[in-house]
Amino acid sequence: MTTTIALITGANKGIGLETARQLGARGVTVLAGAREEERGLAAERELRAGGADAAFVRLDVTDPESVREAADWIEKEYGHLDILVNNAGIARGGPPSQTDLDAVREVYEVNVFGVIRVTNAMLPLLHRAPAARIVNVSSEVGSISSMTDPASPLAHMPAGLAYPSSKTALNMVTVLYARDLRDTPIRVNAANPGYTATDLNGNRGFRSVAEAAQVSVHLATLPADGPSGILWGHLWTADAPGDAYGILPW
Ligand SMILES: NC(=O)c1ccc[n+]([C@@H]2O[C@H](COP(=O)([O-])OP(=O)(O)OC[C@H]3O[C@@H](n4cnc5c(N)ncnc54)[C@H](OP(=O)(O)O)[C@@H]3O)[C@@H](O)[C@H]2O)c1
Repeated sequence: MTTTIALITGANKGIGLETARQLGARGVTVLAGAREEERGLAAERELRAGGADAAFVRLDVTDPESVREAADWIEKEYGHLDILVNNAGIARGGPPSQTDLDAVREVYEVNVFGVIRVTNAMLPLLHRAPAARIVNVSSEVGSISSMTDPASPLAHMPAGLAYPSSKTALNMVTVLYARDLRDTPIRVNAANPGYTATDLNGNRGFRSVAEAAQVSVHLATLPADGPSGILWGHLWTADAPGDAYGILPW
């Protein structure tokens, strides 16, 4: 029996930890990426206590050496990777007129460059899997269509510059990887977890991490004829937060 191996970045808490838990409950071996050892080991213990086959991998997505070491370790231990969930993300900075460029660089370093860095390091391992899946955890706030649609609640929310624009960049990064890999069995998609109560937003979100992680799990376990190059997940309409899921506009 072959084992399905998944790497989730930023898996020591929030949506990432829950994604690891849900994939682990499906029998997937979960590699919980975390940049800090204590937090990573705590996540490993929690996942194992819940019955998952889980291991902590030290992985700071902004640190090329740590990413290379993680890829080397996965190659040595497992020889391939079936699922990569680029989940690690940060939110910083103020509205456009008060933007601190250092905060923008910090956000892009994790949310955009980190995804490219980790994906390229893991691609040789993903190519060795029969049908790998890449999930880039993005956001509806990166959708230019939603942010400019007067009927969308998103168009009326105050927004900083760095985070939404980093997710817009991540959306295009997703499209371009999907195009690059279209002649392979690999599927690359962007996930919208919806506004979820985590440390990222001071726990103000109205969705639970269990609901949010289902979006990443859905895209991580797409069948062979599943889509590639879409933004999929929670649909937030003007009527109500609701529980509808589907393809979001770019
Ligand atoms: N919460 C929402 O409403 C929402 C909505 C849409 C999209 N998202 C996206 O969902 C993803 C997960 O966010 P969350 O809400 O679960 O936030 P969270 O609870 O703050 O978790 C973020 C995770 O990313 C990790 N991380 C940050 N910088 C990192 C780095 N340089 N290298 C590796 N890991 C790093 C954090 O690790 P540390 O503990 O070490 O900081 C943490 O594990 C993010 O991409 C976020 O943009 C969230």
